[in-house]
Amino acid sequence: MERMFGRPIVTQEQMRARIRELGRQISTDYAGKELVLVGVLKGAYAFYADLARAIRIPVRVDFIVVTSYGARAKTSGKVKLVTELTEEIKGKDVLLVEDIVDSGLTVQHLMKSLAKKKPRSIKICTLLSKPERRVVDVQVEYVGFKIPNQYVVGYGLDYQQKYRNLPYLAVLDQMDDQEE
Ligand code: IMP
Ligand code: MG
Repeated sequence: MERMFGRPIVTQEQMRARIRELGRQISTDYAGKELVLVGVLKGAYAFYADLARAIRIPVRVDFIVVTSYGARAKTSGKVKLVTELTEEIKGKDVLLVEDIVDSGLTVQHLMKSLAKKKPRSIKICTLLSKPERRVVDVQVEYVGFKIPNQYVVGYGLDYQQKYRNLPYLAVLDQMDDQEE
């Protein structure tokens, strides 16, 4: 594989295999249910597209756009919902699709906000999780990979809005505002 940038920690092959497993598991768990996949943009776009196609039951697709980190790599703890859902989720089963659960604040906030729309259930599926960094206790049903406390980019994840298009996940070693 050509190395574009950074030190890969999850390769394209590992990603593909794990997403296939997640898709299979979700297809089984949600068989016969009214599943709505809610992608959290921008970060989840790549994972979402691959996960949705690995799910073998009919789903509805929807997205929300949130901003939490701004231009910096450190969480402010504040999450801003920039767009709303377009699908009706009342009485349906919602799976929130995230790129990464770090402090947990983003998904906690989103769960609360989506719960007001009275879905039958809401669960979280994240490509990545950094358990060491958790500050709130959120239940994450489906996790692609648990990773250590390192800043990663690629496969949807950014550093200052760049590197989302890397086809694999890489550790960002050089960060200008790491200590911010
Ligand atoms: P949380 O609210 O602290 O859980 O942060 C979740 C959000 O922070 C994710 O959706 C990402 O947008 C961003 N984030 C956290 N860790 C990383 C990372 O290592 N690389 C890129 N973005 C990250
Ligand atoms: Mg995100």
